Amino acid sequence: MKNFESTLTPQMQDNNTNQQFCADVMAGLAATPKYLEAKYFYDAAGDELFQEIMNAPEYYPTNCELEIFTQQTAALAQAIIADGSPFDLIELGAGDAMKSTHLLRHLLDKQTDFTYVPIDISGHVINYLNETLPQTLPGLQLEGLTGEYFDMLKRAAQISTRRKVVLFLGSNIGNMPVSDAQGFCTEMRKHLSEGDSVLIGIDLKKNPKTILAAYNDAGGVTSQFNLNLLTRINHELQGNFNVSQFEHYPMYDPETGACKSYLISLADQQVQLCDETFVFKKDEYIYMEISQKYTVTQTNEMAASAGFKPVNHFFDSKGWFLDAIWMVV
Ligand SMILES: C[S@@+](CC[C@H](N)C(=O)[O-])C[C@H]1O[C@@H](n2cnc3c(N)ncnc32)[C@H](O)[C@@H]1O
Repeated sequence: MKNFESTLTPQMQDNNTNQQFCADVMAGLAATPKYLEAKYFYDAAGDELFQEIMNAPEYYPTNCELEIFTQQTAALAQAIIADGSPFDLIELGAGDAMKSTHLLRHLLDKQTDFTYVPIDISGHVINYLNETLPQTLPGLQLEGLTGEYFDMLKRAAQISTRRKVVLFLGSNIGNMPVSDAQGFCTEMRKHLSEGDSVLIGIDLKKNPKTILAAYNDAGGVTSQFNLNLLTRINHELQGNFNVSQFEHYPMYDPETGACKSYLISLADQQVQLCDETFVFKKDEYIYMEISQKYTVTQTNEMAASAGFKPVNHFFDSKGWFLDAIWMVV
């Protein structure tokens, strides 16, 4: 069990990460319209709030995908074991790995020869997995990598030449606009070779009210999750956002399948961070995140144009969520 950030001291990593965070926040707040990058939601508080979102009664995606991982574990495992050759099971944006743990346990029970490589931009998440997984899953070969999806996918390929199975769960692909998602799949394909495969979780189009409620829970956790990014900026970039002067606003467009969240400025106000001042008009918005919903046909088209062949489709019992297996062609 090790973390491959080994060539940089923790101090150097922190400085680099902080500079990048500062540059990205400044670029987003200087843009018209203003935006913040969703990958920065996940500091320690953001990780915890996301856990709470997943437990909110309205937030169906986790339960749907969990149902697939608990009720169809053997079929999922069979599809990725394929010809039985040893492989690296690389999970992009692993989070707490709650769903994948069911698959990992099944693979261990079957004495499958594989190494689990969780990748996450949150060092907090990777530390948590490095500490807990050896206890919950004794015998698991584990290599946690902290960093951006493709930087770490490249690192994983340098470490091992075994067959790769990439997990990309939780409809993380939905956290990109459609054109970026297409570009992401094409880039992912470039990091893979013949015989490799992807198990990708994608949230499907359904009743718009069901979707909107999932991103606007009555308990207000999604609101706290969005506002937490302003708090994080205050802590880490010496910002002075008055968090109570911003309000969470989600919307879903059934035509495009885009569910978007915004923070609305409740007043004319100024915010200082990273030695710059940013002016907000009353009712001006900061674009925070997209959760794109797809039809099955759209997902097949996305796979094909990125150079994959969809070979298996696993649905939950309501047909709300899809876990698809795509083979490299
Ligand atoms: C919505 S959570 C999903 C977690 C898990 N896959 C699941 O299905 O429950 C997204 C995870 O991806 C990570 N993440 C987001 N953007 C990332 C990026 N660009 N590179 C690496 N990890 C990222 C976050 O830190 C977070 O743990």
